[in-house]
Amino acid sequence: MSLLTISNLTKRYRRGGKTIAAVDDVSFHIDPGETLALAGPSGSGKSTIARLVLRLIESDAGRIEFEGNDFLALGGAALRARRARLQMVFQDPLAAFNPRATVARMLDDPLRIHGIASRAERPRRIAALLERVGLTTDLAPRAIHEISGGQRQRVAIARAIATKPSLIVLDEAVSALDVSVRGQILELLLDLQRQEQIAYLFISHDLGVVRAIAHRVVLLEAGQLAESGDAHAVIDAPQSAIGKALVAAAPRLNRTRP
Ligand SMILES: Nc1ncnc2c1ncn2[C@@H]1O[C@H](COP(=O)(O)OP(=O)(O)OP(=O)(O)O)[C@@H](O)[C@H]1O
Ligand SMILES: [Mg+2]
Repeated sequence: MSLLTISNLTKRYRRGGKTIAAVDDVSFHIDPGETLALAGPSGSGKSTIARLVLRLIESDAGRIEFEGNDFLALGGAALRARRARLQMVFQDPLAAFNPRATVARMLDDPLRIHGIASRAERPRRIAALLERVGLTTDLAPRAIHEISGGQRQRVAIARAIATKPSLIVLDEAVSALDVSVRGQILELLLDLQRQEQIAYLFISHDLGVVRAIAHRVVLLEAGQLAESGDAHAVIDAPQSAIGKALVAAAPRLNRTRP
């Protein structure tokens, strides 16, 4: 059974008296432990799909099934419980969170909110999470604005895995990092996926990164699905016009896994 199934998802916005479909009748699925990339030009609807899947915004039409439930129909306690299984990592943790929050606080929150560990247990759980993402525990009292971008993204990943999710939505999660740090974070994501069978909905405009991390890819254009399939097959021989244009525009596609 697939982990996440999106069917005919549509989201419209009104702009300047006109209605545009930011996401237009899009369907795809993600299997357990799989990485599905969403790629496409700026404005093609990638982040809107991420927000719909996370239920940060409401859809106009379509269906989202997550872990066998009609996700859009869930409410109250059932939704809260299911939310723990669906986590997110964004491009810029400083924009998504209070920059003065400490690393310990970032990791304490999900453990507390989802009732995963008692107050007495939590410091040990926080230390284990830090270690799991390759950070040392002396970082715990630091504010997230004081640590490096790579360290910050590791903290965001540690926060995401704290609730033992089956799916993490990553929206341009490595796009702001320099190349060597990006490679390390991709390695960490691959390692976590191997160890814990986490699936990723991995959003990136960088086809080199997509080729390195994704099993399958969905290419979007103007809110519509233009092409989908095995990530290597699509990127090495795109069939759609937008796929061909994106590949032609990609600077030196990295043809090896990181
Ligand atoms: N809150 C909003 N109000 C009006 N229009 C919106 C809103 N959010 C997104 N849009 C529009 O929906 C379309 C898709 O935007 P979206 O942010 O999903 O694109 P994207 O693929 O993530 O782009 P990028 O690569 O630049 O991040 C764009 O035309 C955008 O202007
Ligand atoms: Mg976006």
